[in-house]
Amino acid sequence: MRAPISDLPLVLDQVSLQAGATTILNRLSLTITPGAPTLIVGPNGAGKTNLLRVCMGLAAPSSGRVTWGGRADRAPLRRAILFQRPVMLRRTAAANVAYALAQAGIPRNRRAQRIAGLLESVGLADLAQRPARRLSGGEQQRLALARALARDPEILLLDEPTANLDPAATRSVEEIVLAAAQSGIKIVMASHDLGQLRRLAGDVIFLVRGALCEQGAAADFLDHPATPEAAAFVRGDLVI
Ligand SMILES: Nc1ncnc2c1ncn2[C@@H]1O[C@H](COP(=O)(O)OP(=O)(O)O)[C@@H](O)[C@H]1O
Ligand SMILES: [Mg+2]
Repeated sequence: MRAPISDLPLVLDQVSLQAGATTILNRLSLTITPGAPTLIVGPNGAGKTNLLRVCMGLAAPSSGRVTWGGRADRAPLRRAILFQRPVMLRRTAAANVAYALAQAGIPRNRRAQRIAGLLESVGLADLAQRPARRLSGGEQQRLALARALARDPEILLLDEPTANLDPAATRSVEEIVLAAAQSGIKIVMASHDLGQLRRLAGDVIFLVRGALCEQGAAADFLDHPATPEAAAFVRGDLVI
């Protein structure tokens, strides 16, 4: 039997991304492997969102190379991405998940059970028939997670999913993310929240002005930052 195609490891080799004269990502080399969540941290404008777009295959590097499981084709076979502000279809919560399942090629007769399971897993079973756009911000973000999980991803890329949420909604989203990680999904999540880093991260990619400033186990990064920029970030100082 052939092993199923895997998108891991995700390898960036000297990846740069230019927009006109602006260098958004500057010669990034890194490897993302299975295991605990990888958090991409750094100040606003550091390049986190663009790095996630490259990891998803939505943006092609201006130079350098990205491979998923050793392959360079960018078709998002086993990847899903969640943006900071989810866009909901003007339908019920359940119909939003149904749409994602249809997109993922799940046959119609198997969708109902999956919808129920996915909504249950994000705590929205009771709101299945609510129009998605009338859910709260936190509920919409959880619904967006259900839609992403509908793709049965191997890698789930998350762009500051709790940036606009209050602490209770943040906690709910973090619990879902941790459950996904425990089920074997590789989480790659942008954040500029130190508390979130402590709660979720296995390892850390620290970006400053589009360059990789520091990388390693979260505990090392938090307890023994090696660069002045990382030390300032960990102290909670502004890093520009
Ligand atoms: N199309 C673009 N043209 C020029 N600069 C851009 C473009 N898109 C993003 N940038 C710049 O790239 C930098 C990184 O952006 P981004 O990836 O959104 O950072 P982050 O998510 O860490 O806040 C920012 O300085 C932003 O202004
Ligand atoms: Mg961003």
